[in-house]
Amino acid sequence: MAEITYFGLLEELEQYLQYQRDLGIQRVEVDRAVLAELAREPEPEASRPMVVEAAAVPSDFESVDAIAAHISACTSCGLCQTRTRTVPGEGNTDAPDILFVGEGPGADEDAQGRPFVGRAGKLLDKMIVAMGYRREQVFIANVVKCRPPDNRKPVREEMDQCLPYLRRQIELIRPKVIVGLGGTAMEGLLGNPVGITRMRGVWQEYAGIKLMPTYHPSYLLRDPSKKKDVWADLKLVLAELGKKPPR
Ligand code: URA
Repeated sequence: MAEITYFGLLEELEQYLQYQRDLGIQRVEVDRAVLAELAREPEPEASRPMVVEAAAVPSDFESVDAIAAHISACTSCGLCQTRTRTVPGEGNTDAPDILFVGEGPGADEDAQGRPFVGRAGKLLDKMIVAMGYRREQVFIANVVKCRPPDNRKPVREEMDQCLPYLRRQIELIRPKVIVGLGGTAMEGLLGNPVGITRMRGVWQEYAGIKLMPTYHPSYLLRDPSKKKDVWADLKLVLAELGKKPPR
């Protein structure tokens, strides 16, 4: 079972409370065990960058297209039973400046077989353009390549089954910088649940590649006040690449 971190728990609670508030609920019961866990003294997570080595990956995929073909017939987890189309990822496969990693396909992506084409995708497109890139100049992928039913967060086993594809994509694509969009993307890349609120804006590393955690565009659709934080994170990415925003 995956380890539950202090900040992961805090974040899950925050998301749950926001969801309840969106439903119009003004009073919730919180388990005593959760309160006890929150009362613990946390580790200073943001000041402690996590470094992971690339885990064992299938080495027999020689191209990003070969990975996509394999994914299209993948039955490694239960998500294959409810998907319409697989969503392997798309974009520049030749050492792009940036690889964006999201959580998993939603309804629009499942219908089209392409990542980030729904509302969150439109916002991601704007972020990419604001950074001075065109969508086809970067690569866009997800931790899981099939839509989890009802857009739920993928469970650990689904992520574990699917992550070798992302890891091999990263090996083949060789991005200069990775941007992890939201807690699930970061959990997939780093191997542990993370508190994205604490971690965003703090450089991490994945297999020797600089990794910037930031909020997921879907979260920005729910809370546009966080856009300025994401823009600050993306400016750090541009600075790392030796670039400035176009305007
Ligand atoms: N959200 C994601 O995390 N990925 C997508 O492809 C679309 C929405």
